[in-house]
Amino acid sequence: MRDAEVSQRLLAWYDRSARVMPWRVSPADKTSGVRADPYRVWMSEVMLQQTTVAAVTAYFQRFVARWPTVVDLAAAQDAEVMAEWAGLGYYARARNLLACARAVVRGHGGVFPTSALGMRALPGVGPYTAAAVAAICYDEPAVVVDGNVERVMARLFAVEVPLPSAKPELVRLAGLVTPDLRPGDYAQAVMDLGATICTPRNPACGICPLLGICEAQRLGLAAELPRKLAKAEKPVRQGVAWVARRDGLVLVERRAERGLLGGMLGFPSDGWDGTNSGAPFAADWQDLGEVKHTFTHFHLILQVKAADSAANPQRGEFMSLNPNDLPTLMRKAYDLAFQGKTPR
Ligand code: ADE
Repeated sequence: MRDAEVSQRLLAWYDRSARVMPWRVSPADKTSGVRADPYRVWMSEVMLQQTTVAAVTAYFQRFVARWPTVVDLAAAQDAEVMAEWAGLGYYARARNLLACARAVVRGHGGVFPTSALGMRALPGVGPYTAAAVAAICYDEPAVVVDGNVERVMARLFAVEVPLPSAKPELVRLAGLVTPDLRPGDYAQAVMDLGATICTPRNPACGICPLLGICEAQRLGLAAELPRKLAKAEKPVRQGVAWVARRDGLVLVERRAERGLLGGMLGFPSDGWDGTNSGAPFAADWQDLGEVKHTFTHFHLILQVKAADSAANPQRGEFMSLNPNDLPTLMRKAYDLAFQGKTPR
């Protein structure tokens, strides 16, 4: 296989089958000179590290409708941004998003740096996001490697070393096949391929543009690669959340900036996050059952207790709560407590 053949095939496939995304400039528009907006590309790439294009699209649309430029986002209140991010997970990313927007405005006059190196210096921007923005917006032949690209490279070159040890080799191989011509479209093509054809399970090798030059397909190994070292089982933690209501208001507190669900709204809770502060007030707390949630490093079983309050709580504040502003764990507790009814 010639290295250039990989990008040639992928670009030809992308010209026919690029997915439509609200932040993406189609290959045809790109040819006629339309440039991708780095603000939109940066935001989409940060969001896409959490989840799929399908899940990100609605969040992305709400963010850019509310904050159309990086200057608008930089001027937003922290709590507004955290509330819009609620449900996407990894809340440190939302805080970094805001920190990065503010750094672009304060340090760069509201204009994103035009190189991967420049992007990398911004808060919360890692090698993947920096390379993706530089490639997609400025056609820098930066090597863009996410999970999709790792999988495509592992298969294309039949790399049998398991992840994560294989990472440096997969980055090297990705670098070998990254073209100088249209590197931005190429980066998006590999990621589209990984998301639609070269999928983790049941790859659709029969319709793959790399069929014939893919080493794993030739060896009948595509579905088995990349190999992964067995991960340790996640431990199970237990905790308690107290859901209190008073006159249609609900008791919530803003969580500490550092730590789990940092900066997000939540019900007073403890036992699972390193805190042990007990119920927010003395009451005959009623057991509502439990909700389950999985974090990066542990599973959580959270007991949910409820009471109506007359007393003043020792923590938190009674608020008129929009449940959409809650992170998913707390939303589960809310749904268990209120079962689709508005709090009374
Ligand atoms: N996944 C993450 N970023 C992507 C992009 N720019 N195109 C396609 N899939 C992606």
